[in-house]
Amino acid sequence: MTKINQRFSAIEMSKDEFKKAGHQLVDAISDFMDTIYEKPVTTGETPNQIQKVLGNASLPVQGTKVSELISKTSDLLFDHSLLNGHPKFFGYITSSPAPIGALADLLAASINPNVGANILSPVATAIEKQTVKWLAEFIGVSPSCGGILVSGGNMANLTAFLAARTTKAPESLKENGLASLTAELVFYCSKATHTWVEKAAVLFGHGLNAIRWIPTDADNKMNIGVLSQTIEDDLKNGKKPFLVVGNAGDVSTGVVDNLNAIAAVCKVHDLWFHIDGAYGIPAAVIPQYKNLFKGIQEADSIALDPHKWLYAPLEAGCTLVKNPQHLIDTYSSHPVYYNFNHNIEEPTLNYYEYGLQNSRGFRALKVWLALQQVGKNGYIEMIGEDIALSQLLFEKAKKHSELEAITQNLSITTLRYVPANVQGKKWDESYLNTLNEKMLNELQQEGEVFLSNAVVAEKYCLRACIVNYRTSKQDIEESIDIIVKKGRTLHEKLKPK
Ligand SMILES: Cc1ncc(COP(=O)(O)O)c(C=O)c1O
Repeated sequence: MTKINQRFSAIEMSKDEFKKAGHQLVDAISDFMDTIYEKPVTTGETPNQIQKVLGNASLPVQGTKVSELISKTSDLLFDHSLLNGHPKFFGYITSSPAPIGALADLLAASINPNVGANILSPVATAIEKQTVKWLAEFIGVSPSCGGILVSGGNMANLTAFLAARTTKAPESLKENGLASLTAELVFYCSKATHTWVEKAAVLFGHGLNAIRWIPTDADNKMNIGVLSQTIEDDLKNGKKPFLVVGNAGDVSTGVVDNLNAIAAVCKVHDLWFHIDGAYGIPAAVIPQYKNLFKGIQEADSIALDPHKWLYAPLEAGCTLVKNPQHLIDTYSSHPVYYNFNHNIEEPTLNYYEYGLQNSRGFRALKVWLALQQVGKNGYIEMIGEDIALSQLLFEKAKKHSELEAITQNLSITTLRYVPANVQGKKWDESYLNTLNEKMLNELQQEGEVFLSNAVVAEKYCLRACIVNYRTSKQDIEESIDIIVKKGRTLHEKLKPK
């Protein structure tokens, strides 16, 4: 008995030990953040090189002092990570993480609420509920809509997809599964839609052929005429359309579909209207951009990623739904071993009934705190600046004789290197594609600037997505120089003789 009371387990830390290690870590992190500008974006090390740094030790049998572990591990991570917090990180769609998010994650992990059930996380559940409401207000949809924080864009979209299916498919689906349906369920999205739709089709038993990839028009927006026609053809052929996905910032080039028109088509055919705004929808907070997002109030569900354009550290996505009952209808179950609903006076919000996860961490805290740290106005400024910097990159590329500016939407610019014409020589398209692809591969290794790629009208492009509150005008100017220098060097090596 006394032994139990006096227990000091191997994993426990004394107050002094925790304080010391914590201070040491916070000091190291503040130095890291303060000097991130001076480091390369990536060391470009290969997996083998990283493996050598890590060593090949077998499973530790004895313990090691925490201070030693924290010191070694922070050095390991600072020196060998790709730094998406670097001002010249423009790859894919991952933001510089807000420092308050790092503090929030430490606090959240220290309390460790299980935000699956209200009884296990009374304050955290209320904070998540408020965060969801604020996110709805942020983008300008009704704060009465409900939702849940999830790990990211894929999960936010998949969570909504299943709610759409439960709501629009015949009721028998829940009991008897897809095999019992007399009409095949099909859904619609533009060709520019992120690959999560394929995951949804495969994982949830529809198969890839259930996806109707609607072509895009000249602006890369979903072609609404083709959408309507395809739905009508499907109905004639005995299919059961249930969902249309609109993009609010497509993954490659940031195009926002004509959401209002998609909403109207959904209304005519009683289809669920989902918006994938994982990347772009936070731009709806900017008054001048409101019009671009017209129609978002009509959506049955919206995916939005705080870990993209709200600068939350990974992971934080969010599914918003106009009617949260659709989430409950999809995800709720009441096993006897859950004593979660005993307060009959007040309805209880249990997040396990809103999504796929059961035990859930406190993701909302970092989003909730950042929204308070800077407020809506702070975000209007930061998102607006990201867009302005992306436009600057586009304009600089347009003016440069060896660059071709291809697209600019929201904060995504695509461009490519086109060597100067020599005696009127025009470069072959396949050569330009190879040249730009090789440029991207080398740039991604060398760590001066980190870009990703897009293929636009069969042109292989370099793509910069600025969701980075640390990027400045100077970073854009220097990036242009780095790209052109890389293009010239590689062209000298590769040009057809
Ligand atoms: C439009 C869009 N949807 C979904 C996703 C997937 O998001 P995540 O990587 O957070 O799962 C992305 C990722 O870039 C995206 O741009």
